[in-house]
Amino acid sequence: MTLLLDVKNLSVDYGSEAEPLPAVSEVSLELRRGEILGIAGESGSGKTTLINALLRLLRPPAVVRSGSATLHPRSGEAVDLLHADARELRRTRWEHTAVVFQSAMNALNPVSRLGAQFTDTLRAHRRIPKSQARERAAHMLDLVGIPAARLDSFPHELSGGMRQRATIALALVCDPDLLVMDEPTTAVDVVMQRQILRQVIRLQRELGFSVVFITHDLSLLLEIADRIAVMYGGRIVESGPAGDLYRDPKHPYTRGLRDSFPPLRGPMRRLNGIPGNPPDLRSLPPGCPFQPRCPHATPECAASVPALTGHGTERAVACIHADDLPALINGGRA
Ligand SMILES: Nc1ncnc2c1ncn2[C@@H]1O[C@H](COP(=O)(O)OP(=O)(O)OP(=O)(O)O)[C@@H](O)[C@H]1O
Ligand SMILES: [Mg+2]
Repeated sequence: MTLLLDVKNLSVDYGSEAEPLPAVSEVSLELRRGEILGIAGESGSGKTTLINALLRLLRPPAVVRSGSATLHPRSGEAVDLLHADARELRRTRWEHTAVVFQSAMNALNPVSRLGAQFTDTLRAHRRIPKSQARERAAHMLDLVGIPAARLDSFPHELSGGMRQRATIALALVCDPDLLVMDEPTTAVDVVMQRQILRQVIRLQRELGFSVVFITHDLSLLLEIADRIAVMYGGRIVESGPAGDLYRDPKHPYTRGLRDSFPPLRGPMRRLNGIPGNPPDLRSLPPGCPFQPRCPHATPECAASVPALTGHGTERAVACIHADDLPALINGGRA
């Protein structure tokens, strides 16, 4: 599969140089065309900051300290996301990248009819007649199961679920290469959440875009993602194919996260939360950021930040005990 997004060594701080808060540290990730990448991690782990940096949506006091991010769209040249100028960014947004935010319910303009929001967006990027834009709008709504008659509705006239599906359809109206979804389903109930995600996956298969999907719910990602990256304290601590990572987590944090949520299918089991709190980024512990909460930590864990290194095909883990985790768990050294 061809590479769509290539992120290398990205670090983002909030605040002054004197007292920086390292929200994202040395993150590298790759996204292939047509792939669904899930990013998981507790609140404050840096997920939104990471994608905001890639989409150039960071506001002061955020500062990109290092790294590169390159997008290789189907049409046109590669885009240097971190350095693109205003003109390039205008083109890249909607045409190459689209985003659905945590607050997706309120993403539509409340005072504009649905149809106008679609046609205005389309015609800002394509020289097409209004009638053709309206046809495309109707087609996009149809793809998410909303009748074309709704083009004349205002957002408040739609149900919550419909509004969210309309937001997704709008994000896809210019046929982007990449759809970023930042916990887009927290505002709706669980049943609707799964319906919407199923729809996104169906659309993804039909239209072929790639997806970065952010949540703290690892079991949800198992259901929809091809690959998962787990963030902790601003770093990716583990990444790999979704099924492998869920079945056989190699980082104690991934294991803790997995056991914190009920599985979507199969028998209910006891949920074991992760004791303790996410780290204070202003005063990170020495070495591995997870070591103070880790049931398997040894003195060596505090010596240095473990590098994210390969463990078999497509698998990377930032834990010096990754290979002996099963023995540690079975040996009861917790
Ligand atoms: N504008 C800001 N100014 C200062 N610090 C910020 C700002 N935005 C986020 N942070 C801090 O950066 C860290 C990462 O935040 P971020 O929002 O990226 O986390 P997240 O993983 O998206 O969390 P959530 O799951 O709650 O959405 C947190 O410690 C947060 O407090
Ligand atoms: Mg967030």
